[in-house]
Amino acid sequence: MARATTAILAAVAILGNAGLTNAQAPAGAPALSLFPSPWGQGGGDGWDAAYEKARAFVSNLTLVEKVNLTTGTGWEFDRCIGNTGSIPRLGFRSMCLQDGTVAVRYTDKNSVFPAGMNMAATFSRSLMRRRGEAMGSEFRGKGIDVALGPVTGPLGRVPAGGRNWEGFSPDPYLSGVGMFETVTGMQSVGVIATAKHYILNEQEHFRNNVDVTIDDRTMHELYLWPFADAVRAGVGAVMCSYNKINGNYSCENSWTLNYLLKNELNFQGFVMSDWGAQHSTLESALAGLDMAMPGDGGARGNVYGAFWGGALTEAVLNGTIPAWRVDDMAVRIMAAYYKIGALSGNKPRPDVNFSAWVKPNVTVGPVYFRANASIEPVNLHVDVQADHGALIREIGAKSTVLLKNKNNKALPLHKPGHIAIIGEDAQDAPGGPNACEDNKCYRGTLAMGYGSGPGYFPYLVAPATALKKRAAADNTTVAEAPSNWDLDAARTAATGADVAFVFASADSGEGYITIDGNTGDRNNLTLWGNGDALIQAVASVNPNTIVVLHTVGPVLIDYAAKHENITAILWAGLQGQESGNSLVDVLYGDIAPQGRSPFTWGQNISDYGAQVMYTSPTPLAPAQNFSEGVFIDYRYFQHAHTSSVYPFGHGLTYTQFDFENLTVHPCKGQAASTAAVPSKSWTAAAQTYGTVNSSMSANVDPSGFQRIKPFIYPWIIRAANATWLFTAPKAFANTTDPRTNNSAQAVLPAGGAPGGNPGLYDTVYTIGFDVRNRGNVNGTAVPQLYVQLGGKDNPWGVLRGFDDVSVAAGDRVHVEMNLTRRDISNWDTEKQNWVVNNLQKYVFIGRSVVDIALNSSLPALSLQSAGVMQQRLACLE
Ligand SMILES: *[C@@H]1O[C@H](CO)[C@@H](O)[C@H](O)[C@H]1NC(C)=O
Ligand SMILES: *[C@@H]1O[C@H](CO)[C@@H](O)[C@H](O)[C@H]1NC(C)=O
Ligand SMILES: *[C@@H]1O[C@H](CO)[C@@H](O)[C@H](O)[C@H]1NC(C)=O
Ligand SMILES: *[C@@H]1O[C@H](CO)[C@@H](O)[C@H](O)[C@H]1NC(C)=O
Ligand SMILES: *[C@@H]1O[C@H](CO)[C@@H](O)[C@H](O)[C@H]1NC(C)=O
Ligand SMILES: *[C@@H]1O[C@H](CO)[C@@H](O)[C@H](O)[C@H]1NC(C)=O
Ligand SMILES: *[C@@H]1O[C@H](CO)[C@@H](O)[C@H](O)[C@H]1NC(C)=O
Ligand SMILES: *[C@@H]1O[C@H](CO)[C@@H](O)[C@H](O)[C@H]1NC(C)=O
Ligand SMILES: *[C@@H]1O[C@H](CO)[C@@H](O)[C@H](O)[C@H]1NC(C)=O
Ligand SMILES: *[C@@H]1O[C@H](CO)[C@@H](O)[C@H](O)[C@H]1NC(C)=O
Repeated sequence: MARATTAILAAVAILGNAGLTNAQAPAGAPALSLFPSPWGQGGGDGWDAAYEKARAFVSNLTLVEKVNLTTGTGWEFDRCIGNTGSIPRLGFRSMCLQDGTVAVRYTDKNSVFPAGMNMAATFSRSLMRRRGEAMGSEFRGKGIDVALGPVTGPLGRVPAGGRNWEGFSPDPYLSGVGMFETVTGMQSVGVIATAKHYILNEQEHFRNNVDVTIDDRTMHELYLWPFADAVRAGVGAVMCSYNKINGNYSCENSWTLNYLLKNELNFQGFVMSDWGAQHSTLESALAGLDMAMPGDGGARGNVYGAFWGGALTEAVLNGTIPAWRVDDMAVRIMAAYYKIGALSGNKPRPDVNFSAWVKPNVTVGPVYFRANASIEPVNLHVDVQADHGALIREIGAKSTVLLKNKNNKALPLHKPGHIAIIGEDAQDAPGGPNACEDNKCYRGTLAMGYGSGPGYFPYLVAPATALKKRAAADNTTVAEAPSNWDLDAARTAATGADVAFVFASADSGEGYITIDGNTGDRNNLTLWGNGDALIQAVASVNPNTIVVLHTVGPVLIDYAAKHENITAILWAGLQGQESGNSLVDVLYGDIAPQGRSPFTWGQNISDYGAQVMYTSPTPLAPAQNFSEGVFIDYRYFQHAHTSSVYPFGHGLTYTQFDFENLTVHPCKGQAASTAAVPSKSWTAAAQTYGTVNSSMSANVDPSGFQRIKPFIYPWIIRAANATWLFTAPKAFANTTDPRTNNSAQAVLPAGGAPGGNPGLYDTVYTIGFDVRNRGNVNGTAVPQLYVQLGGKDNPWGVLRGFDDVSVAAGDRVHVEMNLTRRDISNWDTEKQNWVVNNLQKYVFIGRSVVDIALNSSLPALSLQSAGVMQQRLACLE
């Protein structure tokens, strides 16, 4: 029986009061905006204690010191990719922010990890967590405070999107798990993680100014979903993106920052701009930006050389930006610092011990690179790799997707007599793996994409190296044909081999780099470098051709799937430094393949629906409408009744699994008393910390201070006409202007705690089933749970659970998965809340989204009146 509470009424009553505009907008309407910017409040999971310390610290700061925390010192001026100002008076060094997403960028003695996309392919929470911990410890070991990852924007709307490989999967649930585990892992070792790029940065073409139109439901059910998981994991930082959303730049967008992120998702950390994504002083501050990176981005026109820095100080002193907003910025930054970064295992943060701006093999260089000043040892070559190579190798193997294995016997290999290794993608690159900065050239085996996500390899094990090592141990003889273009040589090598391996790849990356005409985004979904012709040539002469693909996403391989002589296809993705070893572990059965495809493999690019927008009729104001709504990747394939070559979730292993004995329990084990835990409906009023001294001397460079040109500083500039400076700054500015009003704010009903209303995460069903290994080798099953939410507006099914379960040959293992209220809800644009609709829902357990083994209807629940989330779920009793 359902229990009602009284909190509902409060939630409804407050909406009009919160500076909301457009609150009564019709269903699907874009962009509610919200002012003022919600101030950080603390909360559970360590935020309260962190806020207490942060407030105490910020209370001791002067205005210019606070501003110093909010503004980067400028591009390439200090040692990291981004550096805040410091507070020398209190001995607080600047915060160091550093790329990338698979490695610590621009240094040495670091590891290169498998890409985010490969992590999704493992379908393994524990591997995601362990990679997060290992990566986090490498950033921390270099003295970095804020690591600029993980990525879930792009989510993967378009299959050719250049940075998709840095994120996880076009499925928001899988990406959400990836974000949660990665953030948790990284932050557990003392480095602040950054969820990026927030939000709808789905392609590289026009990324700096494209205006994306999106409806509110799609925003919630697809793109915002994994960011909610990052916030729930306690992420310290979020990076706003380059693009516009419904007319406003992401870094000055009060809908995405104030409304969605800071109110609805209750984000307690700080928002930083992508590098150069800030476009204003005032609008960005009032819409919720907290840190300008790299500091000088885009604003070289004013006297400060920056939108913030001295300009922010001036804006507070002249009363346009209230002091409470700058205090909130500083408190949010310091709260993240205290929650995550200040101490790890009782060890204070290490000093920055590298420089992003000297070559990794160089030791001595300028501390202030652009000023070419202060030449001293800047790169101490601190080795942070620990034993991460073993983990990287394991993840590489466990993320490899065995797409095809003819008659279930082409693989694993057992000491073949003679093998051929064909294709450039099997080989070391000429000049080594680091010959091209930011990986901006395409040669040798592909183990990461290009752009700011990569780092330098400590080494890279090419597939040919690992295969030949194994061959030597087995007395297998080897023929090689390294060229993709010499098809005669390829055929010659392949002819008569017991196994002919043919390697091919497709690359992509960030839009500031163009390779072979591909400006970040891929131009097509075919293989690069003559790869398809190479595969066809080999398969035409060898009846046991095994294709290995290192690609950044799906490629068109229908011909290979159908080819009689192609006995196996493996997708290895981007595996990082141990690439060849990981592959060999799978090929020879030392590790059972457990990878499952994190995206759909279509027959044609047009099968995917949404595509990269390569050109615009209005290139100075390019616009894009995400009119496909929630129907991307497998959701679109289902919707359009298009069959795929290989579906989302597909992947074979060396044994077979049966799924049996499905049970569905509503609210199993949930005490009735967990009902009625309302989230808070109101915040306290905004606070200021310490006092603002508005005298000239308190806000200009101290006498004798030597500026390092061209550093960005927080001081106002004397030369400006500054008669206004000596009027009192306005702590709370104009209280009748909703943008600066400091009064208590209403908490949105879908909000209340990091990640949204805690009731969203209550378990509403527990699904149980058995996994039986009916083969004669051990293996790892990856059962996937899909839910059909009902109605024509919902996809046929959406992923809402998965697990990687190792089951010994002949054994049976019982698995349980929980469905939360969020998992069975849709976003209601009118109610501005998650709602469980009244339609019959079904649950499916499958080996992929199309290979369903078990299904059941979900019994109706006696939920609270739909859409009201101010109380926790009441379960059936
Ligand atoms: C703030 O300043 C007071 C007085 O100088 C000092 O006692 C306190 O330790 C300082 N707190 C912090 C967090 O710096
Ligand atoms: C701001 O940071 C810069 C760079 O670290 C430093 O030189 C300057 O002294 C700081 N200003 C204040 C007011 O602390
Ligand atoms: C206040 O200062 C900011 C930053 O320099 C400037 O953009 C704005 O125009 C100023 N406003 C007034 C009213 O002086
Ligand atoms: C550092 O590496 C570069 C190639 O990136 C090479 O040209 C240079 O000689 C190396 N310098 C030292 C000191 O080893
Ligand atoms: C490889 O061949 C050598 C000599 O022919 C033999 O001694 C050795 O046992 C073989 N090793 C394997 C693993 O078959
Ligand atoms: C697709 O792009 C790759 C990389 O630029 C290129 O090698 C290939 O030829 C293109 N495919 C087609 C069909 O044009
Ligand atoms: C398969 O390989 C054999 C050689 O073993 C060749 O004769 C045949 O044409 C190949 N099949 C195709 C479809 O290329
Ligand atoms: C599970 O299903 C299998 C096959 O349908 C059956 O043999 C077995 O008894 C079932 N186990 C339970 C506990 O119901
Ligand atoms: C400075 O401001 C004062 C007062 O607003 C004004 O009278 C004066 O002309 C200004 N001077 C300059 C150089 O702009
Ligand atoms: C305060 O803001 C309101 C609403 O934007 C505006 O109408 C009013 O003129 C402002 N008052 C002052 C003193 O700036």
